[in-house]
Amino acid sequence: MHYGDLSDSEQISNILYNIMPQEVYHLGAQSHVMVSFSMPEYTANVSGIGTARILEAIRRSGNHTKFYQASSSEMFGRTPSPQNEESPFSPTSPYAVAKVYAYWMTKNYRLGYNLFACNGILFNHESPRRGEIFVTRKITMAVANILAKKQQFLYLGTLEPKRDWGFAPEYVEVMYQILQQEKADDFVVGTGQQHSVLDFVEKAFSYVNLRWQDYVKCDEKYLRPTETNDLAADSSKIKKIIRWTPKVQFDDLVKIMVDADMRKAGLQPIGEGDEFLRKHFPNRWWKTD
Ligand code: GDD
Repeated sequence: MHYGDLSDSEQISNILYNIMPQEVYHLGAQSHVMVSFSMPEYTANVSGIGTARILEAIRRSGNHTKFYQASSSEMFGRTPSPQNEESPFSPTSPYAVAKVYAYWMTKNYRLGYNLFACNGILFNHESPRRGEIFVTRKITMAVANILAKKQQFLYLGTLEPKRDWGFAPEYVEVMYQILQQEKADDFVVGTGQQHSVLDFVEKAFSYVNLRWQDYVKCDEKYLRPTETNDLAADSSKIKKIIRWTPKVQFDDLVKIMVDADMRKAGLQPIGEGDEFLRKHFPNRWWKTD
């Protein structure tokens, strides 16, 4: 383990110079969209300029280090779905603006300095390990805690925005694949299926036979000043070039996450999510959540 910080260019340079890595997967960020409205300068520094610091350190090191930038579907913002590599960016948060900067820096270091630098433009990817303040995990934890009588209500912002939610382990595999291509390039990664926050709520509560209307309440403090409402990936390019197709679709994702949170709350899971994992992903680490 080497310690560093995305705001500390000297430390990043030293680490890269000493390790001489073959590949860098740059996933570090202040990654919460709502938080970025409260901390726009910090978000720009870490999620935006942090990328420039790594790219510059790689360039100066003279090593042939391959670089993966975790670009985000959030960069499309107001651009209507489906979004692909040609769609214009129209970011609607300080987080998304910082990610657009990082995207273009990655592209420019590829074009200008011939670095093997790639953007994976990933749509939302979730799992039982998702942070508890992101909406999917907040919902699945609430379902489990309500069943376990540890929580009475679930407070959310708007239920309308639509997202393209996939299963994170499959997306991590594709990050690796992107760096194994002959030519550095940028790729959109998503399932192509779109669901609203309300769809997620309905699916999670009905899976355990609860009526969501009895538990979900709106709290304005979760509303964002500007919102991204319509995301769905057109992943034709990555399907064609890398032959990547996700196995986990929306219904299975919800079940996997609810089952895992039920187990964490000390309950017996319904089991359909666990069953899906056993069938399609035998012998994998995240079976233990
Ligand atoms: N977090 C949260 N909490 N979101 C809520 C809530 C709530 O209580 N209520 C409604 N939402 C809505 C948000 O307004 C948003 O439209 C949607 O749920 C999803 O919010 P998040 O789960 O916080 O994810 P995100 O889409 O904003 O961003 C995630 O995905 C991006 C990829 O598109 C993050 O992982 C980003 O880092 C990532 O780049």
